[in-house]
Amino acid sequence: MTRGDFIWQWAARDSTPEPCHHAAMTSDPLDVTAGVPYATLADLRATCPVSQTASGAYLLARHDDVLAATKDLGAFQASFREPGVVVPPEEQLISEIPEPRHGHVRRIINSAIAQHRIGRVEPFARDLCNDLLDGLLERGQSDLVAEYVTPIPATVIAHLLGADPADHSRFAEWSDLVVQSTYATKNRRADGEEGEGLVGVAPEFTAYIDAMIAERKGAVDPPDDFVTRLMNTEVDGERLTDLEMRTQLAFLLIAGNETTRHLIANMLETVCTDPDLFARLRADRALVPTVVEESLRHDSPIHVLMRDCMEDTTLDGVAIPAGVKVAFSLASANRDERNYDTPDAFRLDRPSAKDHLAFGGGPHVCPGASLARLEGRIALEVFLDRVETARVDDGYEREPVPVFWANGPRRLPVALTGCS
Ligand code: HEM
Repeated sequence: MTRGDFIWQWAARDSTPEPCHHAAMTSDPLDVTAGVPYATLADLRATCPVSQTASGAYLLARHDDVLAATKDLGAFQASFREPGVVVPPEEQLISEIPEPRHGHVRRIINSAIAQHRIGRVEPFARDLCNDLLDGLLERGQSDLVAEYVTPIPATVIAHLLGADPADHSRFAEWSDLVVQSTYATKNRRADGEEGEGLVGVAPEFTAYIDAMIAERKGAVDPPDDFVTRLMNTEVDGERLTDLEMRTQLAFLLIAGNETTRHLIANMLETVCTDPDLFARLRADRALVPTVVEESLRHDSPIHVLMRDCMEDTTLDGVAIPAGVKVAFSLASANRDERNYDTPDAFRLDRPSAKDHLAFGGGPHVCPGASLARLEGRIALEVFLDRVETARVDDGYEREPVPVFWANGPRRLPVALTGCS
């Protein structure tokens, strides 16, 4: 059957159409080994907004469907686990905790990363970016991803958590270890088999967090950091247990690191490969926040959110049965031509730059958005303050990071000259 036949079949049905199948598409929309397949996603938005991929997962391609689905907690729940894996409540990551408990834990976490407190991290982040650039500018040549981008979010979170500065450099490694491991699929199974869980994957990291919690519990005057705030915040008369704190603190590192780093890397790639944009930004720093937003839209650092479908649901006229996996394509939603003019273009004149779904939507919308925006802005501002010219190596081709839900370049080799 040809691709046209499939599309015709879908279009010809007037009630509860079957989803288009992956075979109808030019490539698997969830296969990002060669980068986010924007052409395939555009095809899906036009012809098959609710499709079924090679793995059997359903994929939502349109902005309004994705936004509506993020709000429908009855139908869709976050899915990090293989079928049959049971995770004890205290080890559930905030994203996968069902309501009403999610709202409760979320209020506690929000109090730890509240916007008015996040602003205080700005001088630390600025000094960090300047220190990192000192070394790079001396050498004149750098893989910006490894040497500038990667240390920024991991170090900022380590600082906010309240870690000893001598240990800051270990956080990027711990985050990689957890993200690249299969810990999320190796917790306790329904058949009773014990999986590794977070402790099995990153024992040093969990021991480190446990020690931070214990120290603050024993201190007369504990420092004002994430750990102390999580420990002391009470919502509806309840606090998090030590195990819940460890789970959520570990998740904060991963959620804030393996996302913000791609935001910064994507922005720098855009700016360093577009000399006109680079010159424009050096002349006008007021454009930086808009670049941050447009980068989040154009190159969503999380390109897909995975969900389990909890009950039979109909979306865009397509029946999605309970029990299947559903992929919310944020990358596709953010380039939906129904919502954005010339969606593939990187533009600084969009009427509402913040109007995108890079941070998700609904009750699970990212609580770290202000921190991510602050880090993105500072990383770019300091780069523009310090770097006179940045030339990406000849023959540079974007190589995607090896994390299936993330979207950023693995390397960014550039020649740099500093401002005199
Ligand atoms: C550019 C950077 C970031 C991007 C693109 C991003 C994106 C997202 C998205 C799309 C979600 C929704 C997930 C879902 O619905 O399942 C989310 C949730 C979350 N993010 Fe972020 N994030 C970023 C930075 C951060 C930072 C810096 C932190 C904190 C340090 C953070 C903490 C969280 C947490 C705790 C959740 C779970 C919220 C919940 O389930 O209620 N994120 N993020």
